[in-house]
Amino acid sequence: MAQGNGRAIDYDALVKPDAVHGDCYIDPDIFAEELKKIYGRGWVFIGHQSEIPNAGDYVRKWIGLQPVIFSRDKAGKYHVLFNRCTHRGASICQHDKGNVGGFRCEYHGWFYRLDGALQAIPYQEGYGDNFDRTQYNLRRPPRLDEYRGFVFASLSPSGIPLREHISGPAQRQIDYACDLSPEGELVVQSGATKLAYNGNWKLQMENSIDGYHPNFTHQSFISTLERLTGAKVEIFSGDAKTQSRDLGMGCSNIDSRRANIEHPHAQARLKMMQGTSWGKKYYDDLVAAHGKERAEEVLIVNGTHMNVFPNLVVLAGQVRTIQPISTERTEVYLRPSLLKGVPDEVNTQRIRQYESFYTAAGGGIHDDVEMFNRVHEGLRCNQDPWLVFRRGLHREQTDNDGTIFSQGTDETAQRGMWRHWKSVMQQDAN
Ligand code: FES
Ligand SMILES: [Fe+2]
Repeated sequence: MAQGNGRAIDYDALVKPDAVHGDCYIDPDIFAEELKKIYGRGWVFIGHQSEIPNAGDYVRKWIGLQPVIFSRDKAGKYHVLFNRCTHRGASICQHDKGNVGGFRCEYHGWFYRLDGALQAIPYQEGYGDNFDRTQYNLRRPPRLDEYRGFVFASLSPSGIPLREHISGPAQRQIDYACDLSPEGELVVQSGATKLAYNGNWKLQMENSIDGYHPNFTHQSFISTLERLTGAKVEIFSGDAKTQSRDLGMGCSNIDSRRANIEHPHAQARLKMMQGTSWGKKYYDDLVAAHGKERAEEVLIVNGTHMNVFPNLVVLAGQVRTIQPISTERTEVYLRPSLLKGVPDEVNTQRIRQYESFYTAAGGGIHDDVEMFNRVHEGLRCNQDPWLVFRRGLHREQTDNDGTIFSQGTDETAQRGMWRHWKSVMQQDAN
């Protein structure tokens, strides 16, 4: 039992092994507690460090509802700074991104360096001789860390390290995405598709690793593909080689490793990619960087399809950030990533694939957004408040690395997210 704004919330009664109560999506008290316990304490994804490659670059971000600036200083170091003037509280950065020499608050002109140090105050003599400017630097989250360029912050000075939050199995999924580059790095500088929906942020988290929905939600995209190719298309069919996987700590994925590695045409595809000069160069560079075995594994597995709790999704070459606004509103930023050090043709292909499904003119992402709106509408019905997450519960297995998996259309990944959510929400509010 936890205290939610003066009222006790029984999370055991709200999250069962096979079902979740609708209040977890629509109750403002629960949302307020999420801001305290999940976004106000745990590790939260800020951005990829390649978003701010040059001195002076900045991108506006949020930790829960709190605005922050992700900036790079003149020495090349990145920072996460609260977007709040230390004078009388005005936000100092209004643009989504840009390049500046520093941040000037428009209210009374206080000027901050890119690392948040307060550099200048108009008419400083008005503060007397003993005024210590260093007391008024921009505030920053007490903890900051990164994994392979993915930068996270925590508003709590203590807690588990980032590499426990992103456990070994989750790290290995991120590695699959990054190791597609011979330099091991993603480049996130190709803009963003922004979308918003009327509903809770967890709807997007659940959906990103949902192998059950594509054949139905994305029927129009699939039938277009079928018309173009003349072949039957089915995504995430009942093939047990694709798995819904709980990676621990609320992280999860749709794991296609086995399906791709054991695909009858896997080796033929590797050979085919070497049929062009750029494909051969990419293959050779990857083998030189990672060794033949790892390079071929990475190429065949082809990235990842995962969630990092609570607000990061890495899938289909994109870095997706989920931004809670309220129980009624969520924004999502989809940023396509490129691979560092590969022939242009490889990245062009990557971007074209992204565009086909995930952009305003793409064929798929709008379907998901429509479903979030529909779930939110349905949640207003109070006769049966439960959402059912029991698919595949009877056939879950524990793998050698401790992760739990089941068949690709099962809800093991979502159950993992909800189990972790409950354990965090049951913590003491203070
Ligand atoms: S509020 Fe920023 S300078 Fe006064
Ligand atoms: Fe979808």
